[in-house]
Amino acid sequence: MRTVIYPGSFDPLTNGHLDVIKRATKLFDRVIVAVAESNGKKPFFTLAERKRTLAKVVKDIPNVTTTSFSGLLVDFAAKKKACAIIRGLRVVSDFEFEFQMALMNRRLKERIETVFMMPRGKYIYLSSSLVKEVARLGGEVSAFVPDSVEQALRKKLSAKRR
Ligand code: PNS
Repeated sequence: MRTVIYPGSFDPLTNGHLDVIKRATKLFDRVIVAVAESNGKKPFFTLAERKRTLAKVVKDIPNVTTTSFSGLLVDFAAKKKACAIIRGLRVVSDFEFEFQMALMNRRLKERIETVFMMPRGKYIYLSSSLVKEVARLGGEVSAFVPDSVEQALRKKLSAKRR
């Protein structure tokens, strides 16, 4: 049984994240998508909101479960008996941070590998931050996020404007 953790802020989940999740299910028996409770950034969606939309989006994908974690990612991965961590790689600018993080995680827990996966080319420019900005400024985001995320974005933005 090979378990992998796909960690992230998922603030919110994009079609690029979803593409990586589906790819991961082809390589691993169990994919745990784990929302980071905090990584120093002030999230737009609360942890509960991020978890709820994520769970909705992946509910029909076999072998995928969702949860959240706090503390060190490698400790969480070890607790879940995962052999690897998945991270998506899009553009070269992702590489420096991801490389550093992968090596630090390896230093902290040697046996847990980091596996980088590239989303489909059409998602390469997507990021949660850009999606939020486009939505905030009234742009159309339906091509970038699953339906339930789009709805959650609309709801959150109208609540913030009130
Ligand atoms: O989606 P993100 O914001 O790029 O995800 C970053 C995340 C949550 C994977 C990273 O910040 C993380 O692993 N946080 C947990 C704390 C930790 O283990 N920090 C040391 C990483 S080397």
